[in-house]
Amino acid sequence: MNDSTTPRHQLVLGQILHFLSDPGEHDAADSYQYFPDGALWIVDGHIADVGAWQDLQARIPAAVRGAAEVFDYTGKLVLPGLIDTHCHYPQSGIIASFGRQLLDWLNDYTFPAEAAFSDPAVGAATADYFVERMLAHGTTTASVFSTVHPESVDAFMASAKKHHLRMLTGKVMMDRHAPANLMDTVADAERDCLALIERWHGQGRLRYSITPRFAPTSSPAQLALAGELYHSLPDLHVQSHLAENPDEIAWVGELFPHCRDYLDVYSHYGLLGPRTIYGHCIHLAPVEIEEMASTGSAAAFCPTSNLFLGSGFFNHPAASDAGIRVGLATDVGGGTSFSLIRTLGEAYKVSQLHQRPLPPLRAWFLATLGGAQALYLEKFIGNFMPGKEADFVVLDPCATPELDFRLKGGEGLAERLFAMMILGDERCVKATHIMGKLAFQS
Ligand code: GUN
Ligand code: ZN
Repeated sequence: MNDSTTPRHQLVLGQILHFLSDPGEHDAADSYQYFPDGALWIVDGHIADVGAWQDLQARIPAAVRGAAEVFDYTGKLVLPGLIDTHCHYPQSGIIASFGRQLLDWLNDYTFPAEAAFSDPAVGAATADYFVERMLAHGTTTASVFSTVHPESVDAFMASAKKHHLRMLTGKVMMDRHAPANLMDTVADAERDCLALIERWHGQGRLRYSITPRFAPTSSPAQLALAGELYHSLPDLHVQSHLAENPDEIAWVGELFPHCRDYLDVYSHYGLLGPRTIYGHCIHLAPVEIEEMASTGSAAAFCPTSNLFLGSGFFNHPAASDAGIRVGLATDVGGGTSFSLIRTLGEAYKVSQLHQRPLPPLRAWFLATLGGAQALYLEKFIGNFMPGKEADFVVLDPCATPELDFRLKGGEGLAERLFAMMILGDERCVKATHIMGKLAFQS
């Protein structure tokens, strides 16, 4: 029997892995905890304790143990839910669109697809599809672009709320250099953003993110509005794009001749600081890297998108050395997969081109606590410290014949994590839990 006043206890058994800090380039042993015969104790959807099952048993009262709902994932890895720090739900239907680089890809594929979201039914169906795909891929939090239409935010927030997800989205602000049916005005954007913030920001686990698409598609007045909105409440977020493609960067130089560089445009309009995150950040000058770090602005590393659109190779170690918070991102639909596991594989290959290979523990940090830190949500999610929200993913490192053969059912933690990020994908995701509750199972 359980009523609203009785705490809901859950026990999760398995190989528990979570991160306390960035393992760095040598996978520092004090940056994570790994309990091969481990357990999570969850009370009312929040982590109460984590540790070796033997030790935990002694810390949990017998009556609680007896009454708890038990999930036995012995032999499987249990990690904090994966965090996608930059993606576009309305682009779900244009993944794998051939032959264009950024600016042509936007005009030829993206804008026509986004125009369909003037119809709330398209938004509702796509948001439900996208949220369901996220859960099937082990992703429990994402920073998501909607479209210019406020209804597209309503649709996404409603889908996320149904599953009690910690999610961020916002209406794209875009008042120039786009098709007429996708443009707002400064006044529209102000009215719509304020109404959406009122309606959704802080509703359950949802957060609003001010979303100027990128510098070229907002007028100076609209960028100024975005900056004012960001500073109008203490916990609003900002998401946009930065330094993705050489033609884009040259265009920004023409549009904002008085700015030092691309980052300076966002700086000028008050759009740098905590809770701001910029997709791509590939072609940055040293002064821009330094300013991102000093302002606490985060970067979203989108390797599948950067390779697919031919944009370039984000230098994760350099960004991280400089002190920039970096998260991992699919960038659906410029990116080619909903899977952050596949995305880690591409991140590794990009890191090899910089001759600074991404080690396995650091990689899985990037997909979990690193993402939470990049979104400034580490108070709530990202690891299994007591008090955190119990979003987690259950992974089978031997889910495919190739992984099974490669690992022969054994091998150490680092090797299993590495094999999974190179050979693995969503087939490794056995279950996804939200606030303790089972939300997906394969
Ligand atoms: N820059 C501006 N808009 C977009 C977008 O939708 N996707 C990507 N990858 N880059 C952008
Ligand atoms: Zn993007």
